[in-house]
This record gives sequence, structure tokens and C-alpha cells, in this order.
Amino acid sequence: MVIKKTCLALLFLASANSVFADTPASLVAGYTAEAAKTTPGFTPSAKRGHEFFTRGWGVSKKMPDCTACHGKDLNADGKHVVTEKRIAPFSPAANPERFTSQAKVEKWFKRNCTEVVGRECTAAEKADFIQFVTQGG
Ligand code: HEC
Repeated sequence: MVIKKTCLALLFLASANSVFADTPASLVAGYTAEAAKTTPGFTPSAKRGHEFFTRGWGVSKKMPDCTACHGKDLNADGKHVVTEKRIAPFSPAANPERFTSQAKVEKWFKRNCTEVVGRECTAAEKADFIQFVTQGG
């Protein structure tokens, strides 16, 4: 019985760990592997990520690009273009909570890409983007 309980506790820890233990590097690696399935040899590019971040998509007037809310400076606060709420800096150097949960990353990529780009982002775009944000482009 004691052993069973220990196992359960370990299982719980292991699964909780997998939710919170993501890092920018592990996320880039995951998206890179996914992108390589359709583009063999894909390697993430901070330069492409930077272009993606500042590119005007022409989909939404209010939020033409990612900087509309996140600002141009990765180390500074952003401001939500609609609610005017403060958004913490994008750079993990300035904000250690960045890119530490794949669930959070997926949730916001889905929402923001749909609004700004007009579709969901690809694994390649996500890998490039996190690479750029981590390296400062
Ligand atoms: C309408 C405002 C708005 C726009 C435009 C916007 N975002 Fe965001 N984004 C947010 C908010 C709000 C959050 C959640 C708060 C936070 O993480 O600080 C967020 C969080 C994120 C996260 C989660 C990061 C993490 O901490 O793990 C990612 C990734 C992201 N945005 C990517 C993008 C990309 C890529 C674009 C452009 C295609 C974009 N955002 C445009 C408002 C916006």
C-alpha cells in the first residue's frame, strides 16, 4: 500500500513536471522536430522570427502585427491595444516566466496568430519566433 501511494505521488510529480518544466530551448526543439517532418533539415532562424514579429499582415486594422500589443522592444513592457493592460516583456531574460509552459504558449499562439495572421501559425513559424525572442534577433 505504501509503495502504491509512493508510485502515485511520483506519477503525479512526473506529470506536473511535464507541464511546468518546458524551457524556451525545449520548445524550440519540439517545434523544430515537428517542422522537420514536412521540411526535412529545417533549422530555426532568429532572423525569420524577427521578420515574422514585425511583419504587417493586413488582416486586422487594430492589430496589424505582433508589436501592436507586445511592443517592439523585447525587454520592455507591452500594452494591449484593446484593453490597454500592461503585458510583461517578451524576452525570457527580462521575464523568466516566458516560454516555460507549452500549454500557455500554444494557447496564445493560437489566439494571437488567428487574430493577427488570420490563421494558426505553423510549427516552423513558432520555432523561428521563440528562437528570435530568446536570442533577441
Ligand atoms: C491583441 C494583443 C496581442 C497581439 C496583437 C499579440 N499578442 Fe501575444 N499575447 C497577448 C497577451 C495579452 C498575452 C498573455 C499575457 C502574457 O503572456 O504576458 C500574449 C502572450 C503571447 C505568448 C505566450 C508567451 C509565453 O509567455 O509563453 C506568445 C507565444 C505570443 N503572445 C505570441 C504572439 C505572436 C506571435 C503575435 C503576432 C502574430 C502576438 N502574440 C500578438 C496579446 C497579444
